[in-house]
Amino acid sequence: MNIKIHLIAAARPNFMKIAPLYHALSKEDWATPVIIHTGQHYDINMSDVFFKDLRLPSPHIHLGIGSGSHAEQTGHVMIAYEKVLMETRPDLVVVVGDVNSTMACTLAATKITYNHAMLSNSSNHATPANHSPFTFHHSRGLRPLVAHLEAGLRSFDRTMPEEINRIVTDSLADILWTPSPDGDENLQNEGVSKEKIDRVGNIMIDSLEMLREAIKAQNIYKDYQLPKKGFGVVTLHRPSNVDDPATLFKLCDVLINISKKTPLIFPLHPRTKRSLESFRLTSSLESAEGIILIEPLNYINFMNLIFNCRMAITDSGGIQEETTYLGIPCFTLRPNTERPVTVTQGTNQLCNPEDLENRIAQAFSGKTGKTMVPELWDGQTAGRIIESIKFHLRHV
Ligand code: UD1
Repeated sequence: MNIKIHLIAAARPNFMKIAPLYHALSKEDWATPVIIHTGQHYDINMSDVFFKDLRLPSPHIHLGIGSGSHAEQTGHVMIAYEKVLMETRPDLVVVVGDVNSTMACTLAATKITYNHAMLSNSSNHATPANHSPFTFHHSRGLRPLVAHLEAGLRSFDRTMPEEINRIVTDSLADILWTPSPDGDENLQNEGVSKEKIDRVGNIMIDSLEMLREAIKAQNIYKDYQLPKKGFGVVTLHRPSNVDDPATLFKLCDVLINISKKTPLIFPLHPRTKRSLESFRLTSSLESAEGIILIEPLNYINFMNLIFNCRMAITDSGGIQEETTYLGIPCFTLRPNTERPVTVTQGTNQLCNPEDLENRIAQAFSGKTGKTMVPELWDGQTAGRIIESIKFHLRHV
């Protein structure tokens, strides 16, 4: 049996989610993992450097979509991926996270019909009679199964594009791999049947553990003369923080104040860089003595900063999880999070620009509550996914 599995990657936070699964599937003789890059992120430092760090081959198929409005990006991915689906006919499509491409590929894969006539005309492809047991046989024909990795997360904030992507993806996917119990609960509250849900843990921790030694071997914080455990790492890219001039102005002001006590290093996402430039805020950050603005970093160097920092100030999803795993205080500039275990069990605090300085001062005033690493965030998630795939393979 040869099960063709598409692993969809699109944007920076996706690459560390597909890498452990690609490596694990490559060792299985029944599986052929195929990496599909939609091209939503395309700068070398937003994409290629991650493939190198995560020891991934170049994408087998690149859709080259690039930037655009939500509808443009989603539509372009759907059109391009539908063609790839018809030409390559995978048995299983794995989508990860919550970016536009995640939703677009889910829509394309759950609506496709592998045409019966085409199937029987081609000797290279499965025929209806001997199609893979893993391909979903529905009333109109055949389509691949779709699995969502990082399913069930909800911020309950539909102004976030990611929340829409999560809801659509989870309502269509056939297999839902969740990272934490809240994910299972959210899905069941939305009427998803239990049989579709497998709690597998947090796949990002697999990447972190795979590269722990390489991360520790770097000294990037020293290159920037930052004191070990005495600096903060800042990342911001959410439209709610960086697209509005008044909010971004306030945030810059607060960061400059914080940097008078604790030096901050701030790798700039392209969206944030563009906003800072157009709102003429770059020079005020550049001239602050305690702030170092840099280009986006590769995975290993970025994680070396996180391993050695005193705190993270962020609006990223992944950094909330990585800091919880590592026990590093994290201040998340958002009113909500789709990753509540990082707050209830981990080191994460939700803040706004007005209370950020106070929250930091309190966190370092001596009294810190006990935190813990959530269950199944252990570097073994890819192995549990392999078992889940084998289980579904037997039961389709
Ligand atoms: C996307 C995801 C977000 C994720 C983030 C991680 C959606 C809706 N958003 O947001 O969930 O947290 O990725 O970074 O899918 N750009 C470049 N080079 C690149 C990529 C982007 O210059 O390689 C610039 C372009 O001007 C683009 C803008 O950044 O228009 C935003 O990129 P886009 O992929 O639309 O959204 P992100 O803000 O990166």
